Amino acid sequence: MQEQIIQFLKQSEGYISGEEISARLKISRAAIWKHMQELRSEGYEITAVPHLGYRLMTCPDKLLGYEITADLGTRTIGKQVIVKDTVVSTMDEAFRLGMENCPDGTVVCAESQSKGRGRLGRSWVSPRGKGLYFSFVLRPRLPLNQLPQLTLMAAVALIEAIETASGLKAAIKWPNDILFENHKLAGILTELRAESDQVKFVVVGIGLNVNASVNQLAPQATSLKAASGKSFNRTEVFQAVLRCLDKGYARILHHEFDKIMAEWCKHSATLHKRVRITDPAGSVEGEAVDLDEDGALLVRKDNGVIVKKTAGDIFLLR
Ligand code: BTN
Repeated sequence: MQEQIIQFLKQSEGYISGEEISARLKISRAAIWKHMQELRSEGYEITAVPHLGYRLMTCPDKLLGYEITADLGTRTIGKQVIVKDTVVSTMDEAFRLGMENCPDGTVVCAESQSKGRGRLGRSWVSPRGKGLYFSFVLRPRLPLNQLPQLTLMAAVALIEAIETASGLKAAIKWPNDILFENHKLAGILTELRAESDQVKFVVVGIGLNVNASVNQLAPQATSLKAASGKSFNRTEVFQAVLRCLDKGYARILHHEFDKIMAEWCKHSATLHKRVRITDPAGSVEGEAVDLDEDGALLVRKDNGVIVKKTAGDIFLLR
């Protein structure tokens, strides 16, 4: 009901009378008044003028499920969005939902995380109400070796959404960093649940710094606001990201990874650079020459041998 009232208020230019809302929603004027009070307590500024009705002045800077899903128009990612206030990590929440058989594309986001995590045991600094911290559950029918495609797809989706929402042209540092002028704007974490060699589901987590100032973030990090000097409506940015993720996921399901690869290569800050990649197997140094069809990075060592890397910590050497 609250969702419909907000829609009416948003659609009407100026005031909308209590009578009209009451007729359209078939509820009493007293019930409307009660809903307005609840919306005000959620942070909406709504004025009420006798004989004119109600008018929406400002919306809260708060993530609300019904605002995120309103007019979203995605097929899979974001069909269901769960909003939490503070959680330990949205990754844990998404794993719980995955185990409860939530539908493909279910998203869980939070206003803050007490222990947001990144790759390789790092933490993700999640200042309250300043960014987008979310995870989503995917159930793709993909062989294990093609799962890196999902991280690359998410990276391309973030680049596109960031440009749509802010005009900023970010770059992808393999495998999971989104950079603006060499400072980290967003990160992607892909984890999975497998049982007897079968992938049950994949959880992709994304942290995007939106309105935080640099002193609220990890060293070397930036935000859309710090990079552009403007504040952003997080719901609008979130919707842009979900739409781009949904488009990318549909491409993967339709075996169009080549299109994602082409976009990835266009925005890569890694390809054609000299890199050193370290992982538990050791360290490899050479030129990052290409991606393969599964989404692995191909590194040509100085002796000409090409090594395939699906994960690791990367250093750009020059
Ligand atoms: C990285 O850069 O290493 C990945 C960072 C991923 C951070 C996001 S924030 C939402 C989700 N919940 C987490 O605990 N981590 C991911």
